[in-house]
Amino acid sequence: MSKNILITGGAGFIGSHVIRLFVNSYEDYNIVNLDLLTYAGNLENLTDIKDAPNYTFVKGDICDADLMDQLFEEHQINAVIHLAAESHVDRSITDPLSFIRTNIFGTATLLNTARKYWKGREDVLFYHVSTDEVYGTLGETGLFTEATSYDPRSPYSASKASSDHLVRAYYHTYDLPVVLSNCSNNYGPNQFPEKLIPLIINNIKHNKQLPIYGDGKYTRDWLWVKDHAEAIDLIFHQGAVGETYNIGGHNEWKNIDLVELLCDLMDEKLGRPQGEARKLITFIKDRPGHDRRYAIDAAKIQDALGWTPSLNTQEGMTETIKWYLDNEQWMENVTSGEYQKYYDDQYA
Ligand code: NAD
Ligand code: DAU
Repeated sequence: MSKNILITGGAGFIGSHVIRLFVNSYEDYNIVNLDLLTYAGNLENLTDIKDAPNYTFVKGDICDADLMDQLFEEHQINAVIHLAAESHVDRSITDPLSFIRTNIFGTATLLNTARKYWKGREDVLFYHVSTDEVYGTLGETGLFTEATSYDPRSPYSASKASSDHLVRAYYHTYDLPVVLSNCSNNYGPNQFPEKLIPLIINNIKHNKQLPIYGDGKYTRDWLWVKDHAEAIDLIFHQGAVGETYNIGGHNEWKNIDLVELLCDLMDEKLGRPQGEARKLITFIKDRPGHDRRYAIDAAKIQDALGWTPSLNTQEGMTETIKWYLDNEQWMENVTSGEYQKYYDDQYA
């Protein structure tokens, strides 16, 4: 049976890498990209594959139950890879209800269509893409495993935790075949510049202040986005139904250390004297409820599916910087308009 896969959020950062990987790797699959094209969705992320014969784009909202019914029927959908979400923690603090609507109600709407349309079939799969933020925060030591209790602290992570619970509830209650993954911080091409790494790269380029929340000693486990897409591919094809897989880079960085690395790499790349960019570092008011440390134990996916990250940080950051500097027009397009007001309000 051919696979007709509905990928949600495919015009966003991670979704666009997943769409490209699937469209290019599986010519016999039909890939339907459903995306509302919010401020974070951008079809420029997909110009290279937009005319591929196995690819269809649909602009629409995962909360629209009639549209979901129509898409499942029209495209005979037999698998879902669900990435659509409101994804930025800072925005969830100022506008929590949008996160609750899309991340909880939207996921529930999709699950419900899948349940109705698939009616107990076993040759189908609902793959839910989630985050390590559902586990809350770590102290100085320890790692998140798949058995770590949920303890979300921001409206974003609480909404993602809720969506994870709904996915598992549909598995247990309705036997809907599901699989989940919880991943650490991604970086790489096409990430919207509200997120730390592209924000810092863009600000260094324009000699603007580099805003560091609190003491800068918050720690994140960074993963090259294409490694995440590869992990999603593996889990989609080989993951066990009902299981959860943690995905992470084994790559912990305190924010300040990572920003200093970016500063030094950017000085070198732009031909500026070493130390120049570091002068732009500015410590600012902390993010409310800021989780101190995330770090993933990725042993399960490594042992079960043989996945490991491919790039080290130096290579990954160098590639990332190169992409943003080579794609100035992309950056200009996404930072014009609404984003400017967001930036001014956030960093006033
Ligand atoms: P993103 O914000 O870049 O992209 C989200 C996409 O979803 C956008 O294209 C947007 O237009 C679309 N979207 C939003 N609301 C929608 C709606 N109601 N209907 C249809 N489409 C809608 O996000 P991202 O960073 O690519 O994250 C993708 C997924 O991966 C999210 O579920 C996120 O929680 C998860 N995740 C992200 C990271 C990370 O580091 N970025 C890490 C782990 C997990
Ligand atoms: O861990 C996975 C999560 O990673 C994903 O689920 C989220 O969708 C994704 O946005 C990301 O969340 P973070 O909050 O960790 O990412 P962000 O890039 O916003 O921030 C990374 C760290 O940098 C965090 O400790 C906050 C800090 N930060 C961020 C910004 C935007 C700053 O110090 N200054 C900033 O201006």
